[in-house]
Amino acid sequence: MSQEQDKIFFRNFSLVLALIALMMVAFYAIAKLTTTKKQNTVEIEVKENNEIISMAGDPTKGKSLSQPCAACHGNDGNSINPIWPKLAGQHSSYIFKQLSNFKSGDRVNAQMTAMVANLSEQDMKDLGAYFESENIKLGFSNPDLIDLGQKIYRAGNKDTGVPACMACHGPTGKGNPSAIYPIIQGQHAEYITTQLKMFKSGERKNDLNAVMRTTASYMTEAEIIAVSEYIQGLRRN
Ligand code: HEC
Ligand code: HEC
Repeated sequence: MSQEQDKIFFRNFSLVLALIALMMVAFYAIAKLTTTKKQNTVEIEVKENNEIISMAGDPTKGKSLSQPCAACHGNDGNSINPIWPKLAGQHSSYIFKQLSNFKSGDRVNAQMTAMVANLSEQDMKDLGAYFESENIKLGFSNPDLIDLGQKIYRAGNKDTGVPACMACHGPTGKGNPSAIYPIIQGQHAEYITTQLKMFKSGERKNDLNAVMRTTASYMTEAEIIAVSEYIQGLRRN
């Protein structure tokens, strides 16, 4: 290498070093930005109908507000009777949305309408925070229905247009709190079947963009029953 070449090599080399250093600084800045962003958004705010609402709820206040709920939903949000949904561990954003929908009449159920009449917005957030903090007691599946149920859950039915439930509710049914996709893992099969039939008939119509009404409209009764059994027995992994 001539001296001239040496110089060019070292100049380029230091340029590359400077570039690497710059990239490291940029990565650090971006990583810092995104982590602080996460802390600000995840639990405190949620998007519903494009509105940003504060989700800060007090689980202790929620617990005392939940006394009248226990008769149907159980002491800790684990209802015994399968016609009543389990609320334990459910995303507070989803609970808040449902209670608001019952109050506004967008979701109709005689028992629940009476229960929400006197709840304020803050009460609903507190109740959501409380039920989310409880642990769901998981269930079991009817072994005869697992094959069909799993097929629908994971892949849908391509011939008739049923989408894979997993696409929104996740591989283990944990949903997505910021998109307000509910947890369905471990929910009572009987309750799930009722809801799918109500989405199919249009009796329940509080799903944004009719995602569940469309999904259920393609499903046969056998598919509804099998996927409900499968979801009831879904486990954490
Ligand atoms: C008399 C029985 C009863 C009582 C008491 C009751 N609920 Fe319910 N709850 C129901 C039924 C039945 C449903 C299902 C409604 C449907 O099929 O649409 C329901 C549904 C819900 C849902 C929607 C769950 C989901 O997965 O979509 C929430 C949230 C809820 N109840 C919260 C409460 C809270 C909070 C209280 C107390 C303030 C309460 N409930 C008291 C019977 C009851
Ligand atoms: C495109 C996304 C999407 C897909 C695909 C989807 N879901 Fe849903 N699902 C939702 C949303 C969003 C809600 C909440 C609706 C609301 O706000 O009340 C929901 C609600 C439900 C509920 C009611 C839960 C409750 O606690 O009341 C059940 C049951 C359900 N889905 C089952 C299924 C099954 C079974 C499939 C597959 C056959 C499926 N979903 C596919 C988005 C989806």
